This record gives sequence, C-alpha cells and structure tokens, in this order.
Amino acid sequence: MAQRIEIAQVLSQSPIGQTITVKGWVRAFRNNRFIALNDGSGPGNLQVVIEADQLDEELVKKIKYHACLSATGVLSASQGAGQDIELLAQEIDILGENNLDEYPLQPKRQTVEFLRQKAHFRMRTNTFGAVFRIRHSVAFAVHKFYNDNGFFYLHTPIITGSDAEGAGEMFRVTTLDPENLPRTEAGPIDWSADFFGRATNLTVSGQLQAEIGALALGKVYTFGPTFRAEYSNTPRHLAEFWMIEPEMAFYDIHDNMDLAEAFCKYLIQYVIDHNYADLEALDQRLQEEEKNLPKEKRRPMGLIEQLRFVTDNPFERITYTDAVQLLQQSKPYKKGQFEFPVDWGRDLQAEHERYLVEKEFQKPVIVRNYPKEIKAFYMRLNEDQKTVAAMDVLFPGIGEVIGGSQREERYDQLLERMHEAHVPEEDLWWYLELRKFGGAPHSGFGLGFERMVQFITGMSNIRDVIAFPRTPGSADF
Ligand code: 4AD
Ligand code: MG
Repeated sequence: MAQRIEIAQVLSQSPIGQTITVKGWVRAFRNNRFIALNDGSGPGNLQVVIEADQLDEELVKKIKYHACLSATGVLSASQGAGQDIELLAQEIDILGENNLDEYPLQPKRQTVEFLRQKAHFRMRTNTFGAVFRIRHSVAFAVHKFYNDNGFFYLHTPIITGSDAEGAGEMFRVTTLDPENLPRTEAGPIDWSADFFGRATNLTVSGQLQAEIGALALGKVYTFGPTFRAEYSNTPRHLAEFWMIEPEMAFYDIHDNMDLAEAFCKYLIQYVIDHNYADLEALDQRLQEEEKNLPKEKRRPMGLIEQLRFVTDNPFERITYTDAVQLLQQSKPYKKGQFEFPVDWGRDLQAEHERYLVEKEFQKPVIVRNYPKEIKAFYMRLNEDQKTVAAMDVLFPGIGEVIGGSQREERYDQLLERMHEAHVPEEDLWWYLELRKFGGAPHSGFGLGFERMVQFITGMSNIRDVIAFPRTPGSADF
C-alpha cells in the first residue's frame, strides 16, 4: 500500500502522477465505476475511478453509500467534467461494509430534524461535516484571539457551590442516595453530609472565578461547558452549552463593548479566511432551502454576504432607554403585533431584539444600561441609581449572543445589590472580599459559543451546531 494522504491534502496539492492511498466513506457511486470519496478532512470529495481490471462484481456490490473503503492508485488529471483530478484505483479494499437496507440514512436529502435523531451518523453528511469543521475553527480562533491579545486562559470549575447568575437554574451535583437522604434535626436535607460537605451544582458561568483571575493576572478568559436547568425549548437554548468569558481589570463598559465587537468580528473573519469552501456549501444549502419560502420569510442576504456585512460595519450602540423608545415608536408596536409589552423596566423579548437588529438597524446592536431589576446582582450601578452598566450584543436571526457588564467593584453597593436580589452572602464571601482587598474597576462578558456558531453556519436550530445536544427531555448519545 502506498502512503495514505488525506483527501483535503490531495485536492489542494494535486500530486499528479504519484501512487497514493486514500481512505474514506462513499458519498456517491455512479455507473459502477465512479466513487465520490470523502474522509472528513474537508468538504471536497475525491473521484476514485475503478480501473477496468478491478471491476469485480463482488467488490462493486459492496461499494455503497457511506461504506468505508481504502483505494490505492495513481492520481491523474481527470478526463471527465466536474473535477480536475481523480484517482485511478488499482486496488480497493472495503474497510467497513454498509448494509443500506438497514442503515438509518439513505442517499437522498434528509431533514436536519431527522438527522438529529441519528447523531451517530449525521457528521457524515455534507451539512454537518461543514458545521463541525467550522465549529472547530471558531474554537481555535477563540484561543488565538485571546492569546494574541495577552489574555490568560483560566480553567474555572465545573462543580461549584455558588449560583453565578442568581437565577436558580442549576443542576444539583450529589452523591447522596435519593432514597435515603440525610436530614438535619429540623427536617431539611443535610447537605453537609454530601460529598463536598456542602450543596453543589454544575456551573452556570465561570465569571465569578474569572474575576478572581482578572484581579491578579489582569486579563483572563474561560472557555468551558456551562449548564442551565431552564425549561426553554427554543431553537437557541441548550441545557449544556459552551461559553467564552473574558474578564479584564481596568476595563469599563465602553472598553468591554469594544472588545466584544472586535472579538465577534475576529471569529467571523477567521472562518471566512479558513473555511470558505464549507461556508459556500452552507450558503448554497440555505439558498435551496429558502427557494420554497415566501419572499418575506427569506433572509435579506446570503450567508457569506451577511458575514462580510457584520465584519465590515460598526455595530450600533444604544441604551436600553433609547431602545424602549424606538420600540414604542415602531410599526409593529403601534399595530399591536408584538406578543409581549414594551415598558421601561421590562426585559426585552426576542421579538423586540429581532426588531431592533433586523428591521431598525439591520446590523448587530449593543444595548447597554438596563434597569437593575432585570439584570444580575454583580453589575455596576450607574449614577442614575436605576440602571446598571450591562451590555447585550444582539445578532440578526439569533438575538442575544453576548451578555456582559462592568462589575460592581464597590463593596457597599455590591452588598446592597446582593441583599436586594436575595443572593446568599455566605456562599460568596470570597467574592465580597475581592472588593475589600485591592479591588479594581473591571468588566467582562460571556459569548454563547453555539449561538455564534449558529450565526456563522446559518443553522436555524442550536441543536444542529453541537454534536450531542442536551435539552429538556433529551440526553441521547
Ligand atoms: O447572558 P448570560 O446569562 O451571561 C452570563 O452568564 C455572564 N456570567 C457572562 C459574563 O458576563 N461573564 O449568558 C451569556 C451568553 C448569552 O448571551 C447567550 O449567548 C449564551 O450565553 N446563553 C446560552 N446559549 C445556549 N443555551 C442557553 N441556555 C444559554 N443561556 C445563555
Ligand atoms: Mg443574558
């Protein structure tokens, strides 16, 4: 057997005249002679031509959709249209047969909903191959961006005793026997008898620990899984998702917004620069999908066009108060088309965010200075005493991709906010001490990784950009 080369490399380097081996899965088989082979290394297939003296009937029978094989031969300029090069196979070995009568996928267009049930095979399709190659690139670009900008990667814990968002949407971590729970004399469960000697849960955010890092190392970021036990069955919520959380000493809310915008643009540009062929495939897919939609439901721009638009234009920046005013003057508001009310003091709903981004400004929008009552306890109180220095970055088709803020660095104000928000002081004694001993103004934000991958790939459901989605009622694979 000749040296095995990955197909992406064969296609980019075209080592014509060399004898090589490729291995991969059959994507298509025509005229009992022409195999389109893909090994996952890129979106491109290599055409493998079975030479006449290899045309053995037994072999041909086994060359089926998604069967796995190895082919050795001479790489040649292609005779046919549709590809520049092809492998004239002198030897083909079937590595893994595929019984198509029983295989869950068939060689035809399958819906993403159907493929979601077959997550163990869906990465073999063009669409999911592209999505997961791009997901990798975005993750890599995250580290590159922060490394190049002098941040330190901090690993914050997955098991914690605190509720960073104060929203109570946590998965309990315990080794206690649910059939036989230890109780205190007064009756409630005695968590001091649990593994860690206290109640613990899966983290909803690494922010509070990242603040510890920022107040020593200056600029840090986390990139890890986070867990939320909220019953949100939407195309943008997962119970287990990945979040990137930079935290910076000496940054105010404006520095924070600048970083968030630069970061989003960098990730998108990185994918344009490194995964263009995959993007083209996804762009094509969306165009085909939209052919069947009425005009008003189609996207205003193609996928790549939209990505370029975002990297090339400044994000709009407005205050919450201005956003509320704009919404109250909007057509859908006046015509009663919003499902949820718009009043100062209420949180913006997805429909409002989408109006601002898709209709009013037609580009990403950063909304800042929200009423304190609707935001987390750690956000810095503004001088008006009514709003906090929060910022949400809203994207077309997605809504909120980033939530962040300048942090309350003043001890007394923080304590008061904790009391107001019923955040237990005793769990966060160390967080309070950070304000007592050598504290500093600081800021940070969290980017929902899957939401960004959704935006870049154009996938409409978040379950299609994470390999093994966890959602209410579903934890298969
Ligand atoms: O706005 P969130 O809740 O902010 C925080 O967790 C802060 N501690 C971040 C920080 O300042 N360090 O979440 C941040 C982002 C959201 O903007 C959204 O993109 C994503 O995380 N997100 C989710 N993504 C998928 N599924 C869910 N259930 C999500 N909840 C939040
Ligand atoms: Mg948020």
